[in-house]
Amino acid sequence: MADRPKAFVARRIPEEGLDLVRAACEMDLWDGALPPRRDELLRRIAGVDGALTLLTDKVDDEFLDAAGPGLRVVSNYAVGFDNIDVAACARRGVRVGNTPGVLTETTADLAFALMMAAARRLPEGSRFVRDGNWKTWDPLLLLGPDVHGSTIGIVGFGRIGQAVARRAHGFGMEILYHDLESLPSSVTEPLGATYLPLEQLLPRSDFVTLHVNLSPVTRHLINDETLAQMKPTAVLVNTSRGPVVDQAALAAALRDGVIWAAALDVTDPEPIPMSDPLVGLDNCLIVPHIASASRATRGKMAEMAAENLLAGVRGEPLPTEVPPPA
Ligand code: DGY
Repeated sequence: MADRPKAFVARRIPEEGLDLVRAACEMDLWDGALPPRRDELLRRIAGVDGALTLLTDKVDDEFLDAAGPGLRVVSNYAVGFDNIDVAACARRGVRVGNTPGVLTETTADLAFALMMAAARRLPEGSRFVRDGNWKTWDPLLLLGPDVHGSTIGIVGFGRIGQAVARRAHGFGMEILYHDLESLPSSVTEPLGATYLPLEQLLPRSDFVTLHVNLSPVTRHLINDETLAQMKPTAVLVNTSRGPVVDQAALAAALRDGVIWAAALDVTDPEPIPMSDPLVGLDNCLIVPHIASASRATRGKMAEMAAENLLAGVRGEPLPTEVPPPA
């Protein structure tokens, strides 16, 4: 059917989404295990009406030039869209979609799991058993801090930050948060969350968890200086974007006991090179950007990304559109 819109899908996503795209479009699916090389990506998007992209695909003027004037929508399979030059898209009338909301609770689950795993030293414990080192019950083995009753500092108090706070509330934690501004008491009071400037939140928190967007303001928000403001017993958790943390500074802080441990779902770059000093540190737990990776959530993200794509190619408003910059 010659008049069906052309859509490029930059990686295999759950069938819930692919089915929708297949039914409505002439779909070109990149089915590699790794993202398409840049030249391949640029070749495949030539002449499409819509592109369903991942956070590994950079959407910039070069991408938009390669796609050509027929491109109407870029639908990102992620809530984050720092891989997309939204202003460049807006200049050309290309709509941008993302997948907010559906991954909030799943991402908060992982942030909490990382916090607990780092505090209670689960990866070290698992390795200890598998290496055949478990000889007896040992009163001093793998001690770590309590999570319940401690103080959590949540940096970025949007949907995901608040979902982490709900979990922390259940653990009887004192909840501090930092954001561009303090939130209404209707949001903070039920959680018992207190706003603090970052320089006051960091020295008071046993756990610091990052939930900010990546922007020029948040790039390397966690650096030598901010790490030095944290407790030597603190655990840092990052499920936002890798570049929010200056990794060289973090490695030095973990090595020198400036903070106690870190747990990262995101790194800079991704994947983290095996030569990165963080990889060799026992007090740094790293997982491969899996915060939204529950079967149900990835399915919902696929559906949402497909719905944005289809609305865009039809010239309709996207169900979840990234607003063009003012
Ligand atoms: C996102 O959606 O931005 C996550 O990083 C991947 O689910």
